[in-house]
Amino acid sequence: MAAEMMCTVCGAAHPGDLREWCCACGGPFEVCFEAKFPLHEMRKRPPGLWRYREALPVGADILPVSIGEAMTPLAQLKIEGIQIAAKLDFLFPTGSYKDRGATVMLTRMRELGVQEAVEDSSGNAAAAISAYAARAGIRCHIYVPQGTSPAKLYQIASYGSGIVQVPGGRQATAEAAMTAADKIYYASHYWNPFFNQGIKTFAFELWEQLGDRAPDVVVVPAGHGSLVLGCYRGFSDLLNAGLIRQLPCIVAVQSTACAPLYRIWSENLDHLPDIVQEPTLAEGISITRPVRWRQIKEAIAQTKGRVVIVSDDEIPAMLAVLARQGVLAEPTSAAAPAGLSHLIREGYIRAGQIVVVSITGHGLKAAEKVSHIIQNKPG
Ligand SMILES: Cc1ncc(COP(=O)(O)O)c(C=O)c1O
Ligand SMILES: [Zn+2]
Repeated sequence: MAAEMMCTVCGAAHPGDLREWCCACGGPFEVCFEAKFPLHEMRKRPPGLWRYREALPVGADILPVSIGEAMTPLAQLKIEGIQIAAKLDFLFPTGSYKDRGATVMLTRMRELGVQEAVEDSSGNAAAAISAYAARAGIRCHIYVPQGTSPAKLYQIASYGSGIVQVPGGRQATAEAAMTAADKIYYASHYWNPFFNQGIKTFAFELWEQLGDRAPDVVVVPAGHGSLVLGCYRGFSDLLNAGLIRQLPCIVAVQSTACAPLYRIWSENLDHLPDIVQEPTLAEGISITRPVRWRQIKEAIAQTKGRVVIVSDDEIPAMLAVLARQGVLAEPTSAAAPAGLSHLIREGYIRAGQIVVVSITGHGLKAAEKVSHIIQNKPG
């Protein structure tokens, strides 16, 4: 399909089938594509993200790389005494919302005829990309920092991906993957713009589940910011198609242990600050250098949203609040509802508003850790 890409930093146009994964200026790409919503056709299809296929930048004749994803439930939860809606995005085939990005990116890779790919992540993105690569018959190599826990690696390895352990931490791992990407396709969950094109289906599902309307506020966790950008792009697509009247406020939640986006937002910075990363239970959002920070800053500003930080003390309590309502989340996934608690206590949420929080990762992925945390929570 002919969708082009554009550099988000210098604005240069690039062909959509380019194998280079970033612009000559170093900026990440975005896909230039007009989403269509043929409602009559769409409504006849099964619930799930491929019902929006005309709103996704892959050819109409390409068979989706799918594991039968369903529309994720929107459940009522009580937080700080208030009823809010929680989108249970951990209920995807690999146990996290990253399947949204993986199913669309791998379908695009099928369309391009990719046979071998590399990705760097030790967590949920790697698991999702590995599962969908297996489904597509694409060979996949996952680069992880040396010392990554076996609990994380077993899921990735089970799907058949090769694992390359890189000494020297996350940045060194990213650089090793980029070098490998000189020769093989870079299926990066943060550089490849087709990944976030998949994440935007979060917004489409919400719009339908709320009765063809946008919520007032959406609260999401943010490291590289795929959900911030997916929400922004998805709701913008709906706005441009005349299907909603205004964008919801997007609230990004970070950990106090690693909060570059908070610094950028609260200090209105025009550069990525140097961050000293502390250990945190919310390890999935512990990202010092989110490459799409400019887009994230713009999305938060355009939607009159904000960035909230939560400390590690708040994670155990929120994991327990969720579990006592039947929702077993990963520690990282407790950050967004913990951030929502701040907003409620501060009066940012007003009575009658429609507020949605995403629960991104399944607690069973970190079962031992979660049960230990919940049982030993203070108070
Ligand atoms: C459970 C969970 N939630 C949220 C995130 C944050 O995603 P992003 O880095 O795109 O902001 C991650 C990333 O790995 C995750 O694993
Ligand atoms: Zn550029």
